[in-house]
Amino acid sequence: MIAPGSEAPKRKPSKINVRVLRQDGPGLPQYWERHQVDYEPDMNVISVLQKIAAQAKTSDGKKVSPVAWDCGCLEEVCGSCTMVINGRVRQSCSALVDRLVEDNPEEIELQPMTKFPVLRDLMIDRSRLFHNLKRVKAWVPVDGSYDMGAGPRISRADQEQNYPLSQCMSCGCCLEACPQFTKIELQRQPGETDESYDLRKKEAYDQGFIGAHAISQAMLFNAHPVGKNIADERMEALTGTGGIAACGNAQNCVAVCPKEIPLTTSIARAGRAATVYSFRKFFDR
Ligand code: SF4
Ligand code: SF4
Ligand code: FES
Repeated sequence: MIAPGSEAPKRKPSKINVRVLRQDGPGLPQYWERHQVDYEPDMNVISVLQKIAAQAKTSDGKKVSPVAWDCGCLEEVCGSCTMVINGRVRQSCSALVDRLVEDNPEEIELQPMTKFPVLRDLMIDRSRLFHNLKRVKAWVPVDGSYDMGAGPRISRADQEQNYPLSQCMSCGCCLEACPQFTKIELQRQPGETDESYDLRKKEAYDQGFIGAHAISQAMLFNAHPVGKNIADERMEALTGTGGIAACGNAQNCVAVCPKEIPLTTSIARAGRAATVYSFRKFFDR
């Protein structure tokens, strides 16, 4: 008997229905496919995908190639397993099936992110995300293996401001949600070499919006005592084509970031820094 006021324990299904948006290769059409796996307690979406791959057949028994997906750390650190699950962009390693079936007992729906080229099924090509980090030189420019002694001290206040930004795992959720970050997908021309294809991609990426993750990382490294040595180079990228001016301030990015990075605070800081940089550049001419 259930005590008055307490909730009845939720009944778990014996089977999980999964609808997957598949694509057999780059540039090919997408199609939906239904799968069914046995329910087990404490599964995440990766375990569901492992079962789907092992079965390699649809819910109506048709033999199919195993569904492809990407993953690495399995603890929400590498960002590689990011996909759209029941309409929400998130990591499949931390998406728990018990929670998903509570919200929608009928089905789990899996789609690749829509802002990146699909390589196969749920695997996408995040190279533009990393390219944009290179555009803003999101690193501390220290090279060599010689002993340079202890680094400069960083105040407690600066640590508190910068630590949250350092948790970015390059997952792409902020880009998936951003209306200004639109998909760029180039088709390889017949006979095109790797070099010229990569160059075309790089040129196309350089025209597109840089994204909240890159803006935030630029602010992180501009605040670093050594990283700030190339602050102007980062500001040059942020004030150039596809830079901070392209941000429409819709704030979708901050709402979906799984690491709760204060992206809109970074964007506001970048906007102020860009104004100062542009004035300084104008008067330094
Ligand atoms: S605030 Fe800027 S970066 Fe964030 S979602 Fe909006 S347009 Fe994109
Ligand atoms: S800022 Fe957040 S949502 Fe964007 S790539 Fe980094 S961790 Fe992912
Ligand atoms: S596998 Fe690394 S974040 Fe999910």
